[in-house]
Amino acid sequence: MEVERLRQYLEFYQDLGIKTLYRQQAPVPAAQPAEPRAILMELPPLAPTNDTLPKIIEDMGDCHRCRLSEGRNKIVFGVGDPESPLVFVGEGPGADEDAQGIPFVGRAGQLLTQMIENTAKKEGIELLRKDIYICNVVKCRPPENRNPEPDEMEICGQFLHRQLSTIRPKAICALGGIAARALTGHKEGVTKMRGKWFKWQEIPVMVTYHPSYLLRQYNQEAKREAWEDLKRVLHFVYD
Ligand code: URA
Repeated sequence: MEVERLRQYLEFYQDLGIKTLYRQQAPVPAAQPAEPRAILMELPPLAPTNDTLPKIIEDMGDCHRCRLSEGRNKIVFGVGDPESPLVFVGEGPGADEDAQGIPFVGRAGQLLTQMIENTAKKEGIELLRKDIYICNVVKCRPPENRNPEPDEMEICGQFLHRQLSTIRPKAICALGGIAARALTGHKEGVTKMRGKWFKWQEIPVMVTYHPSYLLRQYNQEAKREAWEDLKRVLHFVYD
């Protein structure tokens, strides 16, 4: 647990762009005056070199790093082509995903698949769901499909970070406010952020609505906007 806490601190400093830390020496007793010294400590790289998706899965193991593990059936790591130039990031598994261990397989997932495949076809881009990569901010289902808590996102975030660093896609599409905030750090609502480009570690991030939101009947306008967002991201990646 202590190692995990240390790792979280180091990640925090790394996010601030700090590459080295100076560890303070134990105070020297007054009787032996000495030059104050600092010990240089290289920060470990966040993603191990030559990281791979199987290695990340292995490191996750039967993860119990946060409370979401208590109610889960299956860890939902990710699915699709690990060399895809486009990655979709959702919020967290729902009941169907938790049962199958695969992201976006329930109703929202079916809508996402249709949106990707139909939009690509209409735009003359040859693309099926299996050609892209899909994952979530948290890998275990939050109880009652509640939003993941900040500490859960932070703990699981190391795995998302490694996944995205390994795949290094040309673009990422953030589905919904939780994914948008986790990837960009921006705090605005999804309606303000959608349709715009942000960045995650220099990789362009397009924000759009979560498919669950689009499933609500009255969201016709949001559906049209999501289709526009998707078109933009597909042309950016595949033209
Ligand atoms: N909603 C998500 O955010 N992710 C899934 O995998 C399924 C539903």
